[in-house]
Amino acid sequence: MAERSAIDLSNIPAHVAVIMDGNGRWAKQRGGLRVFGHQSAITAVRDTVEEAAELGVHYLTLYAFSTENWNRPALEVMALMQLLVHTIRQETSTLLKNSVRLQAIGETTSLPANCQRELAEATELTKGGTRMTLVLALSYSGRWDLTQAARRLAADVAAGRLQPGDITEATLPTYLATAGIPDPELLIRTSGEQRISNFLLWQLAYTELYITPVLWPDFRRSHFRDALLAYQGRERRFGKTSEQLTIS
Ligand code: IPE
Ligand code: IPE
Ligand code: MG
Repeated sequence: MAERSAIDLSNIPAHVAVIMDGNGRWAKQRGGLRVFGHQSAITAVRDTVEEAAELGVHYLTLYAFSTENWNRPALEVMALMQLLVHTIRQETSTLLKNSVRLQAIGETTSLPANCQRELAEATELTKGGTRMTLVLALSYSGRWDLTQAARRLAADVAAGRLQPGDITEATLPTYLATAGIPDPELLIRTSGEQRISNFLLWQLAYTELYITPVLWPDFRRSHFRDALLAYQGRERRFGKTSEQLTIS
């Protein structure tokens, strides 16, 4: 369990993304319903947001509900949406206290109206937050993001605002839902699953992956620090050789 003092504060990732997984298994281990696992995950969210902000992370993206999650039993989907409304309402004051700005990415128009309203209100209330941006991925998937970007790019080309030849690796991400946000340096996935599950497909191209067996409802500040410590021990080569990195 990493202490604060073990973390190199001059090497904090600007953007950390998290696949919060394992709520269902956590509940099952306790003989409860899956919804109990989701309800029990709020402390993990709060701990992670506060620790990230205190350590100097600028963007924290939490995968809260994927496009594929719409295929879960209707009762579970409904419970997740209600929990979302309740949590946003309850946590807005903590976000304000910590100067954290809320932003949502995903096909949010498919969320129930009260969720959309709650999100819009919290986004507006917290827009002055300067310490960290909390990005909630809701009804999000990487393929959805690339598809909507392609659609808008095509529309700009059709309207003559953009030439196909002008589309570069720098242009495309300005059409993604994460426009203006740097790519994550670190991705944390809880509950031991070793997959991306259609998360930030473009943005994760060179992200360091950290997978922990800890189930999301058990995830605490110290686990977040463990992930940062592991990240700080990595050598990010971006295709170069190790020797090239020590020379430059
Ligand atoms: C993550 O936990 C929460 C969401 C995907 C909304 P799960 O509900 O996927 O938990 P497991 O993977 O079934 O344990
Ligand atoms: C990924 O978790 C989505 C979220 C954490 C919101 P899942 O539990 O849905 O992922 P798969 O389906 O097991 O890959
Ligand atoms: Mg899961």
